[in-house]
Amino acid sequence: MSSVPDITLPRPFGAPISRVDGPAKVTGRARYAAEHPAEGLTYGVVVSATIARGRIARIDTGAALAYPGVVEVLTHENRPAMARLDLLHKDIDAPSGSPFRPLYDDRVHSEGQPIALVIAETFEAARHAARLVGVEYEEEAHRSDLSEWLGEAYKPSPRKFGFKSPPKPRGDAAAAFADAAVRVASEYYTPAEFHNPMEMHATTAIWEGPGRLTVYDKTQGAQNSRMYLAHVLKLRKNDVQVLCPFIGGAFGSGLRPNYQLVLAGMGALRLERPVRVVLTRQQMFTFGHRPETYQTIKLSCDDGGKLTSLQHTAVSETSYAEDYVEVIVNWSAMAYSCPNTTLDYKLVQLDRYTPLDMRAPGAVTGMHALECALDELAHAAKIDPMELRLRNYAERDEGADKPFSSKALRDCYRQGAERFGWEKRNPEPRSMRRGKTLIGWGMATGMWDAMQMPGGARAVFRADGTLEVSSATADIGTGTYTVMTQIAAATLGLPMEKVTFKLGDSTLPFAPIEGGSMTVATIGTAVQEVCEKVARRLFRLARILDGRWLGYPLFREVEFADGTIRRKDDPSKAIPLASLVERSGYGDIDKKVLSLPRILKQSKYTRATHSAVFVEVRVDEDFGTVEVARVVNAVAAGRIVNPKTARSQIEGAVVWGISKALHEESLHDHRLGKVMNHNLAEYHVAAHRDIEDIDVVFVEEEDGVVNPLGVKGVGEIGIVAVSAAIANAVFHATGRRVRSLPMTPDKVAGLTPS
Ligand code: MOS
Repeated sequence: MSSVPDITLPRPFGAPISRVDGPAKVTGRARYAAEHPAEGLTYGVVVSATIARGRIARIDTGAALAYPGVVEVLTHENRPAMARLDLLHKDIDAPSGSPFRPLYDDRVHSEGQPIALVIAETFEAARHAARLVGVEYEEEAHRSDLSEWLGEAYKPSPRKFGFKSPPKPRGDAAAAFADAAVRVASEYYTPAEFHNPMEMHATTAIWEGPGRLTVYDKTQGAQNSRMYLAHVLKLRKNDVQVLCPFIGGAFGSGLRPNYQLVLAGMGALRLERPVRVVLTRQQMFTFGHRPETYQTIKLSCDDGGKLTSLQHTAVSETSYAEDYVEVIVNWSAMAYSCPNTTLDYKLVQLDRYTPLDMRAPGAVTGMHALECALDELAHAAKIDPMELRLRNYAERDEGADKPFSSKALRDCYRQGAERFGWEKRNPEPRSMRRGKTLIGWGMATGMWDAMQMPGGARAVFRADGTLEVSSATADIGTGTYTVMTQIAAATLGLPMEKVTFKLGDSTLPFAPIEGGSMTVATIGTAVQEVCEKVARRLFRLARILDGRWLGYPLFREVEFADGTIRRKDDPSKAIPLASLVERSGYGDIDKKVLSLPRILKQSKYTRATHSAVFVEVRVDEDFGTVEVARVVNAVAAGRIVNPKTARSQIEGAVVWGISKALHEESLHDHRLGKVMNHNLAEYHVAAHRDIEDIDVVFVEEEDGVVNPLGVKGVGEIGIVAVSAAIANAVFHATGRRVRSLPMTPDKVAGLTPS
């Protein structure tokens, strides 16, 4: 007998259940990509380019190959065959252009690009020999400084999953701005940030015979990695299996297959042995990242605080090879009601790796500028910042000219403000202090998409009363295992411990990449649907086997609870589900679905999550230090399946928002085209000392459009408004606007321009 107590959900959804994968993770049973054992395993270490642009004139692998224990050194000169067409190098998240091809030819496109893989019997030998690879470059002039090339910004070709070009102008924003009673115009800067999950990117590729690979890869999309690897290395799709049962954080860094996947795959094919490649922390700064941006915002309002114009421009970096695009300015078309709006989004090509989605890509950047500018406008108009937002509340999405499927943002403002005590705010900057410490209160609004994609699931119900549900999705630490188990258990009325959910395997039913905060909406819907199919099958079996005793009920007259099917009007008429399978003689019940979004219904609406974030900061003006004393994040994200894992998402996002506001930036030496602070000693992220009180509120929100579960997703909304709320609080504390992130002490103390 299991010692785990029965957890029958008090409600179908909504119970604060602890992670079902928690025990495996804390006891070390959960294996990550670099931890899967393999017979005869070899270790690959990546050699990274030291120039930002040029070609490899000569690469000398002799000394590395001669080093004891080294079995192979792969370079562009001796690599296995690779596909030629760009199309075959594109993964599902690829933007327009020509994806990077590791070891393809002698070109160097960005600093840190992989140029060789040294493979040895031990990791230590490979690591040492990697330093023995001699490289001569023909260096070319590079561009790495975005500020220098803003004049060459161009309108990108708008092809990428989730991207839409900014809506056309409404009204005449320039004229309205010129005539307005109150106006603000400002510029904002955000640096390039790098994903720094605890788990570095890693792949263990196991050779299973000619042309056949089993691959443990750190990825947010096992099927995406499989398709990509099969295409790039010219293997048959069914001869490649990609697995990723556990991920030590990803945040978007695993949405596109990364170069260590190809390198490990090549190595395994060449050696006919397993190869493991783990990137170093420094190498985590050699691929996708949140792009650096410059933004301008011009806002105007009348004396009553009603917005009369909004102009928002953004210029962002991309690589020469691909147009990485994200929706930075589009939020400005729908966040508030405004008759005159002009938006503009442009890219500049640099000799850097193509940027990549990072938690709430685009929104976190664009909403930062918009929400800081609104605070400036509120101050200029002498209106409370929250009141200004309420006076310009968007009842519908004016950018797309559609209603919102639901929008409980007013409740976020009200409940958040109440929890925070916003009404006690003295509007005057520098008016609140404790001794020498200046206190500031700021707030901001957040928005993110509520998406759903097609997604598949399979459910097998067995005679022992256990249910196994599966889908090729991922759990990047968000709680997918737990939430899917809950949905399945709730739908079939089974105790949690009778249900297992499998994911992270390319052979499982179709799932899109795990990103965009859409996994519960997408895979949760599929799980519910497939469990309903099982329920209907069990219902038919009950009618066949026990119909007379049950009184031949209709489907709506029965319920599934406590592992039984029973009459709603007479719960004593209950039949254990397991016995139905056993007595039927048909064996396991095995169902599959591909669940599709109801696009016709959905497309009539803008579907989004909202948040209101309130922040208290303490500022020491002499040192320029900012401490975030309190954060209240009130979120409207539809139904919350699990308040515990959902809260954890919002808390983590707030931590990252603090990190973004105060610490995180990659610093480049533009003479060399290099990231200088490619380690966690110099690339600062928020640590325990930076985190104080975080209060999360989920406001009630019913939504019958987004999906049958009414869920909107919480993976990203939590970070969106945080940095703006902190910047606005810093202004309230000091009277100084810091328009460049991060707000480091030099900027806050006014020692450097901000
Ligand atoms: Mo998220 S940037 O969609 O992993």
